[in-house]
Amino acid sequence: MPPPDRRLRVVVLVSGSGTNLQALLDAAADPSYGATVVAVGADRAGIEGLARAERAGVPTFVHRVKDFESREAWDSALTASVAGFEPDLVVSAGFLKLVGESFLATFGGRFLNTHPALSPSFPGMHGPAEALEYGVKVTGCTLFVVDTGVDTGPIVAQTAVPVLDGDTPESLHERIKQTERLMLVEAVGRIARDGFTVDGRVVRFGPAVP
Ligand code: GRF
Repeated sequence: MPPPDRRLRVVVLVSGSGTNLQALLDAAADPSYGATVVAVGADRAGIEGLARAERAGVPTFVHRVKDFESREAWDSALTASVAGFEPDLVVSAGFLKLVGESFLATFGGRFLNTHPALSPSFPGMHGPAEALEYGVKVTGCTLFVVDTGVDTGPIVAQTAVPVLDGDTPESLHERIKQTERLMLVEAVGRIARDGFTVDGRVVRFGPAVP
């Protein structure tokens, strides 16, 4: 974590519309928020997430898996690009790729992902649809520290969202995303101002207690 007089440097990874990214950019426009988005990376070009970064004057980079010889080579390039911006924290906000060994070796413990379900329920790409299919009455969103599993890492924050009669996967996901943006902005702000510790599976805001 940065010294108290410096803002937390955050690199955000996106693959799509980037509304979570936008929420962070908006929050970071106020210096008292404590965090600043120093770069935005993507695994595809031409997405609204990158356009949002460009409009905010934030540098961007794109690494498409298909442009590399192997998944490992892609992962190394992603790691190098992110590392070049010297982030304190990396946030995957709708980034639709699992990172590899090189990325986790460099950013493990400070790489967060946001997921549109209440972990450990409904990991993977279809959280809202699977929650609806299962018939749960409450779902939500989870911010977690990425580990080698799929949406399995230690939980930083969670917020519940009710499932309503007549919900479709799209309407439910949209309602989750409204909550998800608030959760993400609040948690990153707390990390910027207070730090966080990971003790096994348990994440706490605040400095490490000796
Ligand atoms: C979010 O719900 C995120 O959890 C999921 O994809 C969505 C991304 O939305 N993985 P956006 O690109 O931030 O609008």
